Amino acid sequence: MVLINEHYLKLKAGYLFPEIGRRVREFQQKNPKAKIIRLGIGDVTLPLPKAVVEAFHQGVDEMGAPETFRGYGPEQGYPFLAQTILEHDYRARGISLECDEIFISDGSKCDTGNIQEIFGLKNKIAVSDPVYPVYVDTNIMAGRSEQLVYMPCTEENHFVPDLPHQKVDLIYLCFPNNPTGAVASRAMLQKWVDYALANESILLFDAAYEAFITDPALPHSIYEIPKAKKVAIEFRSFSKTAGFTGTRCAFTIVPKELMGKDTQGNPVAINPLWLRRQTTKFNGVSYPVQKAASACYSEAGQKQIRELIQYYMENARMLRHSLENLGYKVFGGVNAPYIWLQTPGKKDSWEFFDQLLTQAHVVGTPGSGFGSAGQGYFRLSAFGSRANVEEAITRFSLLSL
Ligand code: MLT
Repeated sequence: MVLINEHYLKLKAGYLFPEIGRRVREFQQKNPKAKIIRLGIGDVTLPLPKAVVEAFHQGVDEMGAPETFRGYGPEQGYPFLAQTILEHDYRARGISLECDEIFISDGSKCDTGNIQEIFGLKNKIAVSDPVYPVYVDTNIMAGRSEQLVYMPCTEENHFVPDLPHQKVDLIYLCFPNNPTGAVASRAMLQKWVDYALANESILLFDAAYEAFITDPALPHSIYEIPKAKKVAIEFRSFSKTAGFTGTRCAFTIVPKELMGKDTQGNPVAINPLWLRRQTTKFNGVSYPVQKAASACYSEAGQKQIRELIQYYMENARMLRHSLENLGYKVFGGVNAPYIWLQTPGKKDSWEFFDQLLTQAHVVGTPGSGFGSAGQGYFRLSAFGSRANVEEAITRFSLLSL
């Protein structure tokens, strides 16, 4: 028999969201009449914006005509999309990046999961606790289970991790944060950039939720911090911003100034390593999807996306406000589409999950599924429909816990 990669045996039994799905399906089978409201996984519910749909159709039509048909595209994405992103998301904020520093992909889950491949196995890896499980699981799969350093995020530190006491090499940061909805000020990010510069570390900055920032003082990109290009990779996604969870498009910025080293201590540029990885293992995002993504930046696209975001953020406001009125301690939901609530009496997160499911038929995500510091907390996604959010609020008010 063939030997398996035993690092997989060190993973928790199932990935968090399929496990939630399993429990919900089991409940639904036993209670077929229950109208379940899903505020668990952060999956969007509004359709793609009109401008995006039109461009998507156009892309498909081009693929269906001999004069405009395209085969393989560039693995790192079409320049028309790369240029548009750089202009709107970066140049407009005073950040200059070149086309070969952006890599268009089919999702930030894949990119944040795959990025660790280009780094050595002996690196110390710092992650927040609670954390998006992909960062942890992909490092365990690669054989770094002993290399993980957890940075607790608690009410006391406003769910923003303190600098680690020991020297770490790779640091995953996610702001606005999934799952806590916490945000990092410019000063906080400056501390991390300074740490990375002083310790020759690399920040893996997941900015998948930057579009949900409402406070104009908050940075949207790590590159708004001086010298961050020397120490940071940034991940962005169209998934939540523009309703692309089922369409798939994202991008990763790997600045050319970012350096690592080989075992002899010689400096090695990171950008060509990621290019090599992507060109070897990935054939790019489909042309119609990239066409659709580029429409997010047209005048109409921008307006329609703003409306989507406002809709979800109004859901977040309603959830936050109602839960607070019901006496819950609530975090997040102001600059992020996630509500992080303390379970009543800090009860076990999975126990609260089961109670909420069986009594109110509402699905959320147990905080402990994101790490041990998430125990006693619970995440609600604001990506539901308005009717479902309203109904969930009513059901919360009827809960007897
Ligand atoms: C979540 O619910 O945490 C997200 O939907 C996960 C993801 O984006 O992969």
